[in-house]
Amino acid sequence: MAHEWLDDACFYEIYPQSFCDSNSDGIGDLRGIIRKLDYILDVGCNAIWLNPVFDSPFVDAGYDVRDYYRIAPRYGTNEDMKRLFREAHRRDMHVLLDLVPGHTSADCKWFKESSKAEKNEYTDRYIWTDNIWSEPANKVKNITGYVRGGTERNGAAAVNFFSAQPALNYGFARTDEPWQQSVDDKGPRATREALKDIMRFWLDMGCDGFRVDMAMSLVKNDDDQSATIKLWQDFRDFLDREYPEAVMVSEWGEPDKSLAGGFHMDFLLHFGPSNYLDLFRVDNPYFSRDGKGDAAVFFEKYMRNKHLADKGDGLICIPSGNHDMVRLAHKLDMEEMKIVFAFLLSMPGVPFIYYGDEIGMNYLEGIKSVEGGYERTGSRSPMQWNHSTNAGFSTAPPEELYIMLDPSENRPNVEDELKEEDSLLSTVMELTRIRAEHPSLHNRSNFRLLHCEKNSYPLVYERSCDKEGSIVVVLNPSDKTVEMDFSLPENCKTIYTHGGSLKRGNGIIEVPGASANFILI
Ligand code: NOJ
Repeated sequence: MAHEWLDDACFYEIYPQSFCDSNSDGIGDLRGIIRKLDYILDVGCNAIWLNPVFDSPFVDAGYDVRDYYRIAPRYGTNEDMKRLFREAHRRDMHVLLDLVPGHTSADCKWFKESSKAEKNEYTDRYIWTDNIWSEPANKVKNITGYVRGGTERNGAAAVNFFSAQPALNYGFARTDEPWQQSVDDKGPRATREALKDIMRFWLDMGCDGFRVDMAMSLVKNDDDQSATIKLWQDFRDFLDREYPEAVMVSEWGEPDKSLAGGFHMDFLLHFGPSNYLDLFRVDNPYFSRDGKGDAAVFFEKYMRNKHLADKGDGLICIPSGNHDMVRLAHKLDMEEMKIVFAFLLSMPGVPFIYYGDEIGMNYLEGIKSVEGGYERTGSRSPMQWNHSTNAGFSTAPPEELYIMLDPSENRPNVEDELKEEDSLLSTVMELTRIRAEHPSLHNRSNFRLLHCEKNSYPLVYERSCDKEGSIVVVLNPSDKTVEMDFSLPENCKTIYTHGGSLKRGNGIIEVPGASANFILI
């Protein structure tokens, strides 16, 4: 199989604006990322998902692409990108770029051409109504508004997210209006081919694949999403033919659909039907010491999807967070997050660590919105490396930083946590090492849920593979000691323990509060 590296891949998501600034202009860049590749490897991550780095007016932090073929000058040049691919590959790492197929910036040449009265190559690249006063948004899911006026063309253009992000035209599964084109019409087909060209360009340069933005939203009026699934199957056929090594991870959050569409991986999101938020981000999250949370609904849905995923070779990924949701540290403290990582790094699927989560960076509540971040801005602040100027992120004057730094006195940083044996970072490093060393914990190894009851602790599951046998993972995020009926064989071996080890009785185990144990059987 061409994607064997996914078997033990561990991803690190980088928000490029905020990771490392190499030229003191207050914003992160590609050369900064190259400098930190060894750190990412040390954390135990061998793959990177890079948020959009293409030329853009940055109305939505780069998710509004102006030129798909050019790295935004603030991050460097296409040559720098090439170097980043090379440097990553030299370390046996892989890099996925963020592909935004659903919309462009209103500043994109395609949109400007499409707005002209005369017909041209781009006339049908976007979704236009046939009259300025008829509106495309009404009742069509995934169309959030429209651009009206300011164009020669007598029509309104649908937008996908913010009003400066006109929606690309992949057609409608059901056409209710004369201006709605079907998926196989010439315009939608040309959009599809244009996207393939973009993929070819970056894959030829050394990119290993893509994280695909809003993958679920491309075909409109697609109630059961079957047409969108079909569209992605076409992209997967194209990749299998021309770039069999390339991998695709979707922003979809519904693995039953995305994996059927041919994505190699799908990650769970803070929206959609997965109940992912129950774990770390609701008022009483399961991983809080208060012990009032519930993981049962999450697992009921997870198991259903896992069953479907197991029929193919797709992977369901549970991320620590991302640039769109509040950070883990919003609800959980350092100790609680250690158990979270014991969970994230022992579950199947490919782990995704959002930059800074490995040191427990704070969510900066209420800070001023930057580039369309709004409440998301608080999860996008500069990485904290050490105690030097701007926490080692940049040597620019503090007021010139792209997003303000966490102002708290005791903000965590990499340098301190590397020195501390029991820090969150050291814990994450130990866990990624254990995951890498034990094939049963690898991404595709078997998973069996052994104990997860409604509003109850502990959470127990088994990971296994033929090569190694079984590893039983016992997690008790609550602060109370709990007991459960469970027999562990005499000769089993604890390969990871945090917060106290298990006590064995007569067919019973006693699990200390706030503990994580991995037992090799
Ligand atoms: C999802 C991205 O993760 C988010 O940051 C962006 O604003 C929207 N899609 C629109 O592209």
